[in-house]
Amino acid sequence: MATEQQSPKAASTQSDGRKDTLTVTDNRTGKTYELPITDGTIRAMDLRQIKVDEDDFGLMSYDPAFTNTASCRSAITYIDGAAGILEHRGYPIEQLCERSTFLEVAYLLIFGELPTKAQLDRWVYDITHHTFVHEDLKQFFEGFRYDAHPMGMLLAGVGALSTFYPDAKQTQDPEERYMAAVRLIAKVPTLAAFSYRHNMGLPYVYPDNDLGFAENFLSMMFKKTEVRYEPDERLAKALDVLFILHADHEQNCSTSAVRGVGSSDVDPYSAVAAGVAALYGPLHGGANEAVLRMLRRIEKPENIPDFLERVKRREEKLMGFGHRVYKNYDPRARIIQQHMDEVFEATEYNPLVEIARELEKRALDDEYFTSRKLYPNVDFYSGIIYEAMEIPANMFTVLFSIPRTAGWVAQWMEMHEDPETKIARPRQIYTGQRGREYVPVEEREGPEKILGPPARRPKRPRRGA
Ligand code: CMC
Repeated sequence: MATEQQSPKAASTQSDGRKDTLTVTDNRTGKTYELPITDGTIRAMDLRQIKVDEDDFGLMSYDPAFTNTASCRSAITYIDGAAGILEHRGYPIEQLCERSTFLEVAYLLIFGELPTKAQLDRWVYDITHHTFVHEDLKQFFEGFRYDAHPMGMLLAGVGALSTFYPDAKQTQDPEERYMAAVRLIAKVPTLAAFSYRHNMGLPYVYPDNDLGFAENFLSMMFKKTEVRYEPDERLAKALDVLFILHADHEQNCSTSAVRGVGSSDVDPYSAVAAGVAALYGPLHGGANEAVLRMLRRIEKPENIPDFLERVKRREEKLMGFGHRVYKNYDPRARIIQQHMDEVFEATEYNPLVEIARELEKRALDDEYFTSRKLYPNVDFYSGIIYEAMEIPANMFTVLFSIPRTAGWVAQWMEMHEDPETKIARPRQIYTGQRGREYVPVEEREGPEKILGPPARRPKRPRRGA
């Protein structure tokens, strides 16, 4: 049995003589251990020295879903959930949304500083000039069914990018890392728009290098026969702000997936594809779609009191409210609200807005929600804005992936620069049987029931079938 050991590093002592250590007594052996505390954490490996005898593997920590485990050190995004604070590289999200563009924030996330004018110009130029995808990727998209989910297409498309840029496997080469960052941020919107056009049966629209990042995306989505698509500036601005708001959110499920898969030293396209896959899950990227369904079910403001009573009886969930980290108003929800009026000025009136606003007001007046610190989160209003922009609900998570690519790339780069990075390899508590004797098939006894797949559901009709 393994007997890895790690002795605690020297603990620091505070000015009043108190030591930054944790003293643990193992009541199985009566032995006491002193573990250093650094940045409010103990190292899980320091537990390994705690053993009942020499053959013992050593103590591990058990933390399903990593709810109390820091998996890395990161200088990218700071969140104080209790205070409702979100900062990127130290800059409050409010200032970034008000004064920056998405591409500037992407640069900040990846390189750690706001760019100078020259750096920004170069960055924007590089992104803009890498938005085209290889023509073979267009054919690859043709292979999807007409109703393929756009997130499934994006996932496959990002994975496929790795086959077009084999040099990206040289993950230690700074030039290759830079090119992968540029290509991912530039090409994900193109693939995202292709997935929408494929669903709509419309021809793919090539990127327009004369347009800004958000404008170009709107053009690739909605351009028809006009020579140049001219997006409404108010919508382009709101979309750019939404992109900033979704750019990074520290070690969430998809970012942990990118870091976990990236730790195998796979190329960055494959690592980011893992992030897209994680975001595809409804528990991560799909709540804004659920908000729209909820608002439609409520139907009109008069039905809100009844709906809230059902929530309190736990027959319903108030979608778009509550957050694992924010136990205060999600700062991103507040910023979205500030842009709603402009969006609705530029689009058709949507009665769901009125229901949403009234629902928020009533919930925030209700002790049930305030006592549980349930406030609107980023998803409460984002779906309504996307809907107003005529973006279909199955594209919402795709729109989330576009800016989050910048966060994934920043986290992937940081992981590669961290001297403590190793291939991610969690432990388990084995709960199965041990040392069983193999029984030949003719001699096996057991229940008569055939264990196999459940009865098949009727197949969906296929186009043309
Ligand atoms: N509606 C009604 N009650 C709620 C809600 C809600 N949306 N969220 C939490 N609660 C109640 C919950 O029942 C519990 O009550 P009690 O203490 O009486 O049992 C209490 O509030 C604490 O909830 P919790 O389950 O401990 O909270 P959590 O941190 O595990 O869950 C959450 C966070 C986001 C999963 C949850 O609030 C939720 O399901 N919200 C609705 C879905 C949603 O909007 N998700 C998007 C999150 S933002 C995405 C992002 O940041 O990218």
